[in-house]
Order: sequence, then C-alpha cells, then structure tokens
Amino acid sequence: RILILDFGSQYTQLIARRVREAGVYSEVHPWEMPSEAVRAFAPSGVILSGGPQSAHAQETPRVAPLIFELGVPVLGICYGMQTMAAQLGGRVAPAQQHEYGYAQVRARGHSQLLREIEDHTSPDGYGLLDVWMSHGDRVEALPEGFSVIAETDNAPLAGIADETRRFYGVQFHPEVTHTHQGQRIIERFCHAICGCRRLWTPSNIIDDAITAIQAQTGDDEVLLGLSGGVDSSVVAALLHRAIGDRLICVFVDNGLLRHGEGDQVMATFARHMGVRVLRVDAEAQFLDRLSGVSDPEEKRKRIGNTFIEVFEAEAAKLPGVQWLAQGTIYPDVIESAGAKTGQAKVIKSHHNVGGLPERMRLGLVEPLRELFKDEVRRIGIELGLPAEMVYRHPFPGPGLGVRILGEVQKDSADTLRLADHLFIEELRAAELYDQVSQAFAVFLPVRSVGVVGDNRCYEHVIALRAVETIDFMTARWAHLPYPFLDRVSTRIVNEVPGVSRVVYDITGKPPGTIEWE
Ligand code: XMP
Repeated sequence: RILILDFGSQYTQLIARRVREAGVYSEVHPWEMPSEAVRAFAPSGVILSGGPQSAHAQETPRVAPLIFELGVPVLGICYGMQTMAAQLGGRVAPAQQHEYGYAQVRARGHSQLLREIEDHTSPDGYGLLDVWMSHGDRVEALPEGFSVIAETDNAPLAGIADETRRFYGVQFHPEVTHTHQGQRIIERFCHAICGCRRLWTPSNIIDDAITAIQAQTGDDEVLLGLSGGVDSSVVAALLHRAIGDRLICVFVDNGLLRHGEGDQVMATFARHMGVRVLRVDAEAQFLDRLSGVSDPEEKRKRIGNTFIEVFEAEAAKLPGVQWLAQGTIYPDVIESAGAKTGQAKVIKSHHNVGGLPERMRLGLVEPLRELFKDEVRRIGIELGLPAEMVYRHPFPGPGLGVRILGEVQKDSADTLRLADHLFIEELRAAELYDQVSQAFAVFLPVRSVGVVGDNRCYEHVIALRAVETIDFMTARWAHLPYPFLDRVSTRIVNEVPGVSRVVYDITGKPPGTIEWE
C-alpha cells in the first residue's frame, strides 16, 4: 500500500485514484500525520503531493523526518519534490519564469522512474515527455546523493533521483491526464520501485468488504435507506451478498423522483436480486410539508426532515435492527478530514441523512468509505447491477424538489417528470447521455404566451440543463447539437401538457451552480 501525504494540492485525490488504477491500495493523509500512524500504516512507498506553499519560505509544511528513515521509496511531486530537496540539503528558490501548463521535459540518464517512458525521442536520443507543470519555485541545487533525471529549458532540475535510497522527485504533475505518460510513471513507481502488486481489483475489493461487513455485524440486522442512486445501490448489492436477508432496505418514494424510478428500484432489487425492500409511498406527506414553501433552503430542510421522519417511523417497526448502512465514499472522508485540519477547500453540505445514526442509536456500516466513485461503479458492475443504474447521472437528495422553482406542487412535479424523461430518452437515443456528466429539466414557475394550432395559449416554461464536468465543482454547459435540441423541444411542447416553451441553460459553473436552487 502507498501512503499519500497531502500538502493541499487540488490534485491530491487524483494521485490516490491513479495509484488505485494501478491496482495498488492508497490512502491520503494530511502532511502532519503522526509518526505512530505512519508506522501503523506500514506503507510500501510514500508520495508527497504538491501544494500551494513555497518550500524556500521560513514557515512551511515539512515532511516528518521519519518518512525518509522508513527505508521505503518516496516520490515527491511539485511542492513535494521541493520540500524533499530542501529538507535533504538541496536549495529551492523562486524561478525567474513561472511555468503553468504544458511543457516538454527531457529525460536524462536511466532512472528507474522514467525508464522506457517517453512521448517522443529527441534527435540526440533522449526521451521527451509532454507534461503538465504548475509551479513558481524550482530546485536549484541537488541534495547529496541525488542526480538529475529530467530537465526543461526553464527548470534544469525538473526531475531528480537518489537511486540508492529510492527517493524521486518530479516538478511536473504525473497525476493529471495532461501528462500523457503520467499513469505509466505512477505505475513504475508503484510496481517496479515499491514492489507493489496489482491486488486492488474489484473482485478483491468485494471479497474484503464482505469479510469486513460480516465481522462487523455478526448476526445482527442492518437497515439501509435505498435511494436508487449509485452509492446506496452498490451498498445494497454488497450487503445483500454479505448478509443476505439480514439486510432490510427502506425505499422512500417522496414523489420527487424521476420518471419510473421507484418501479425500477423495486424491479432491480426486490424482484431481481431478492433483496428485502420496503417501499414507502410518502408523496402526500412530502407535498404536505412543502405546501406554501418557496425558499430553496427551507425546501431542502423540509425535504431532509421529512425523510428522517418517514425513515424513523419505518425503522420503529423493525426493533431488531442494530446497524444503519450508509453510502459514504472516500472523497467525503477526505473532505471532512481535511476540514478538521483546515486543509480542504470546498465542502458540500449536501449530505442527506447526517445525524440519523446517533438519533436512532444505531451503529454505522459504511462499506464504501475507502472507495472512489469510479471504484464504486466498477464494483457495482461486478456485483451484477445494471450498467444503466451504475452509470446514471447524479441526482440530488432533494430530487425534483430543487428543480421545481418556487413552491412544489404535484402537477408541476408530474409535468417536470415527463419533460425530464423525454430529454433523457432523447439523449440516450442520440448516444449523448454518456458524453454529458449530468442532464435534466427544470420547471419554471412562469407562464409565457404561445400559439397552439390557431389558439393563443399561456403556459409553463421548461429549462433544459446539461453540463460536462470532472469533479462537479466547476462545469461547462454542454454544447449539444442544435438539431438535437430542436427535437427535444418539439417533443416536450407536443407531449407534455401545460408546457408551451423550452429554453436551454447556457451558464457555466461558476457563476451558475449545476442545479437551479
Ligand atoms: P451544484 O448545484 O451545487 O451541484 O452545482 C453540484 C452537484 O451536487 C448535486 N447536488 C446534490 N446532491 N444532495 C445531493 O445528494 C443535495 O442536496 C444536492 N444538491 C446538489 C448536483 O446535482 C450536482 O451533481
């Protein structure tokens, strides 16, 4: 396993994902991780992330000396390389020219790290690599024992190595896709240098998770709020495999789900897989709680509270249950750990059932706590869930409640559900669904004048939103083809009663959020 020490780079999670893609387990910890914890983790190698600081400044985050005494390979990336160089006796200084963006580095010598990895060969026989740089400082003098393994015009020491101690540093970012050979570099570090094998595979992950779930829950019953989203679906499939009928799922239909979603959840889990699922039809209760409320935050709060109310009422009928399962995934864990140490940048307040386990005095089962979203999806497929479910666009906890602007009413929910369904159906038919990250319709509580046949009409407006994004923190609106938008618009106006106009949202994030509320 590989330990990644985080110095606050926006790319740290990507490093962990790359290592995992290389089939090697990795964890991200804050740079000041206590020594006992490092020893207990027993890493086969350590990666030091980039970070926003300057390694030549006085007060900067430093790697604990222990890391260099463990006898395992260390790879420093960007700031990680600079602090390693500075701490081991080299010199770091501000570069004359800052480098941001693409650069070409020349590989020098025959380092273990870059061996046989290149995008091009230079006329004089050196390997050339197209890489992504983002730094203001550079290493100016090598620490003892190190030699140069890569250079650029602007940074003569763009890659350094001490092959005896197996310490490596690169000024560029191998973890981002712009560095074309980045994955191979990470793989060389994990496999050839650290000696890790490819054991982190979906079937091993599943086997380990099942053993852990069985050990944790014994003969007890476990309750899961199944939403139909990817994470809770994968938790359901995994727990079902681990403990069979001792898993009880509660699926709350709040009347704010997508077209056919409730039936699909029941078909997949209850009928197909034989999971115990209690479906609670709570549409009336949710609509009642939302009646007269148009403030977005108040709507979110009420939807969350009503969910808890309904869920607790169901749980009260199941007194034998001792555990509550949740679909927490690794990015949530890293973000909240980072939040505690003041490291993390953005924190989403989206989580839907926080506080529930304590209120209900249940232990918590979180089998996806160590997994990234792409790993969750892969094990979902391995567990036999339909690809359509596993690769479905994300859907917010409050559902259509935040896509009906203003007050939520049953009619508008039905109108929106149908319009959204037509949009998604057309996206799938045009093979555009998987090319966008998230797409949906929004119900606008305004009326506009139109003509239908020979008559004037005065009806509602539907907005379409489709975005492309990697991390959902920033997004660009999808440039869907005009003929496609034309078809969707025609279908919605013709097939959805009460809608006479369709608009397309061309706002990026920032400044817009992905959802409208
Ligand atoms: P925004 O609108 O903040 O959304 O740009 C970013 C991503 O988060 C989803 N989202 C939510 N997910 N509960 C959730 O589980 C929520 O309350 C919630 N609000 C937004 C949104 O759909 C997008 O994918």
